[in-house]
Amino acid sequence: MNRPTVSKILGTGSFVPSRVVPNDEFAQTLDTSDEWIRTRTGIRERRYAGPADTSATMGTLAAREALAAAGVKPADVDLIVCGTVTPDMVCPSTACLIQAYLECGTIPAFDVGAACSGFVYALSVADQYVRAGTARRVLVVGTEVLSRVSDFTDRNTCILFGDAAGAVVLGPTDDPGRGVHQIRLYADGSRQELIQVPSMVTPNPPPGAGVLPNLRYLRMNGREVFKFAVTKLKEMIGQAREDCGAVGKRIKLIVPHQVNVRIIDAALEDLAIPPEAVVVNLDKYGNTSAASVPLALDEGIRTGRCGPGDTILLVAFGGGLTWSSALVTL
Ligand code: UT7
Repeated sequence: MNRPTVSKILGTGSFVPSRVVPNDEFAQTLDTSDEWIRTRTGIRERRYAGPADTSATMGTLAAREALAAAGVKPADVDLIVCGTVTPDMVCPSTACLIQAYLECGTIPAFDVGAACSGFVYALSVADQYVRAGTARRVLVVGTEVLSRVSDFTDRNTCILFGDAAGAVVLGPTDDPGRGVHQIRLYADGSRQELIQVPSMVTPNPPPGAGVLPNLRYLRMNGREVFKFAVTKLKEMIGQAREDCGAVGKRIKLIVPHQVNVRIIDAALEDLAIPPEAVVVNLDKYGNTSAASVPLALDEGIRTGRCGPGDTILLVAFGGGLTWSSALVTL
């Protein structure tokens, strides 16, 4: 009997813009300090897009790198799925723009909106296409320009975010034991008010709609999101350990959404996970939402912290609320 088709990560890539923004820059205009930001979040600096950078241009550069790593030509890609909350435009999708920039031909391309879980949600869509046999080379991109929705008068939020893009190429594998074992997705729309990014379509929702006031930029209830993030990160790692046991694997590296080192440390401490088993690069890039997990994954692979045959766990959580994980053997 034929084995069911399983999808595998064939290559990864990432892109960060060149402008480095250290914590001290915020202290020039806000009542904050490098010391507060470092000790309360772990962030030292982040990158900001230049005038010519957009989610689509950065996503394209990350995608090119992932395609090169996978040895796949743009003409051989047969689906593009992009996670972003900062699309260049509401229409067309960022995935369509990336498709055009890469000259992939008239393959399907669409965006997935799941905030910081956007990349893992997009990966789950790609995984389903590959498993179903309807796509053989899927480009999955997470890309954000959060500096363009940051309120630079709000010290509670603007210091957290950065701009970046990450991408993977997914395709089928015959290799037993390798590939995507399990993807778990969750959402709780009843807690939507905890993180919001406005749209031009409804810039000022009416009172009573359950939204925060003066909604022009990204708004967040940091304290509540912090509690949610620690709880879900722990829950998803615990669940993945069980999933791992069921497929006879051990997690070598956890690649969590990068937002606050205290969130990651709290989960690690409770679960007795050593720091070397986790990728942390938020000190350099801050929270890059849907780009965060593929950016950290690409770094983990390129620095040799994980490689072929290693089992890794991608974990993300954010606006929606959404939370998600992917257990993968590279
Ligand atoms: O990607 C989506 C997921 N997002 C997250 O996971 C974000 C999760 N939340 C966090 O990372 C943290 O809650 C923050 C970094 C946003 C805030 O850290 P905190 O330790 O939870 O601080 P807090 O909100 O409890 O605020 C403590 C104090 C407040 O002052 P008062 O009211 O005690 O006088 C804040 O106004 O810290 C103040 N504060 C700051 N002070 C200096 C908040 N931001 C700053 C700042 N500089 N940048």
